[in-house]
Amino acid sequence: MHPESTPSPQRFLTGITTTGTPHLGNFVGSIRPSVAASRMVNVQSYYFLADYHALIKCDEPARIQRSTLEIAASWLAAGLDPERVTFYRQSDIPEIPELTWLLTCVTGKGLLNRAHAYKAAVDKSQAAGNDPDADISAGLFMYPVLMGADILMFKSHKVPVGRDQVQHIEMARDMALRFNHLYGEHFVLPEAAIEDSVALLPGLDGRKMSKSYDNTIPLFAPPGQLRKLIASIVTDSHAPGEPKETGGSALFQIYQAFASASETQALQQAYAGGIAWGDAKQLLFERIERDVAPMRERYHALINDPEKIEDLLQAGACKARAVATPFMRELRQAVGLRKLGSPPAPAQKGKAARTGSPAFKQYREKDGKFYFKLVDADARVLLQSQGFDSHQEAALIIAALQKEGPLALTALDGKVAATQGSSVADLAKVLQFFAPNAN
Ligand code: TRP
Repeated sequence: MHPESTPSPQRFLTGITTTGTPHLGNFVGSIRPSVAASRMVNVQSYYFLADYHALIKCDEPARIQRSTLEIAASWLAAGLDPERVTFYRQSDIPEIPELTWLLTCVTGKGLLNRAHAYKAAVDKSQAAGNDPDADISAGLFMYPVLMGADILMFKSHKVPVGRDQVQHIEMARDMALRFNHLYGEHFVLPEAAIEDSVALLPGLDGRKMSKSYDNTIPLFAPPGQLRKLIASIVTDSHAPGEPKETGGSALFQIYQAFASASETQALQQAYAGGIAWGDAKQLLFERIERDVAPMRERYHALINDPEKIEDLLQAGACKARAVATPFMRELRQAVGLRKLGSPPAPAQKGKAARTGSPAFKQYREKDGKFYFKLVDADARVLLQSQGFDSHQEAALIIAALQKEGPLALTALDGKVAATQGSSVADLAKVLQFFAPNAN
């Protein structure tokens, strides 16, 4: 958005829901790459414990508290530097629920109806022959808005998440566009950052390692338990001495996630040479233990000193609120939650175009006719109308476009044409912006 200021830092933000105990899959897929990213130059990282989100899934207070402690300790033990990173607990930032409400008011209910997690819950209720919304809390329905507030509050550019969360980032983008359109340019449009190089770690049964499959290896299991769990990883029935396939071998994939290229190659050769599964499992245990043992020690020291973690989180909250408090003040001002004595802000009319949001622009030419064009956020003209006899006629057509999207174009029979170089996809995207409830 500011090409002239290339060195301005990229802000990365991600949240971790505090409902469980971190496992090797969380470490490989999220903790390790996030800690590495936080050490890059010109990057500002915001990592937080999403405990408000945890309440949506979990009604056991002790578990929320314990999980918050364990996750915080895990990230710190894995090398997260709270001096470099703004590391905080979501519920320490009262501006987050406040922003959630402002976003709620600009989010189409239809948009939330289409969220995968909500739809899956509805499908499940219906499959069980129940009312579609049976057992679905409004919290689950609102999940994407709370997440939007997390992301937009800190003007995040990049949000590292798993594929299952991408839709939520897109929704946060929609909320930002809508809000900016109504109230001026306040939010940065975030993008999902999916690490494709980070393969999903398989679990004990070969499926993706996940709490919901009950196939996880806890990151800081004591060595004895780690060894036992590794012994229970599924393998095929090839006997010692028989060559083994690396493809599809969960054991091999987990090894690879920890090993260097040459270590991986050595194991590959051992597979070809008929290594016994028991020996391969011993190698895996030793390889994981080499990385995990020093972290485990730090982890236990931290877990036994919850006050210290609490202090770190309070310091993180202070840093986060130094950003959130003034920004929230700006946003309250923008929507009209203002001191009664303060002068009203300039009218919003025409502001959208200047502030880089898509807009329909109406104008009158010398021929006395009424025209409009649709410009995108970069002021590129996507649609150009012919001249109409009245302002109302033009307005009706704009309304149809806003409501029906590019489909309306066919019915408009040449009264409005796409300009050269603008694709239907561009158009659909820009028009979607005006119609949060359209499909
Ligand atoms: N929903 C995310 C998950 O389950 C957690 C989360 C909450 C999050 N707020 C966020 C992730 C903001 C990224 C950005 O994984």
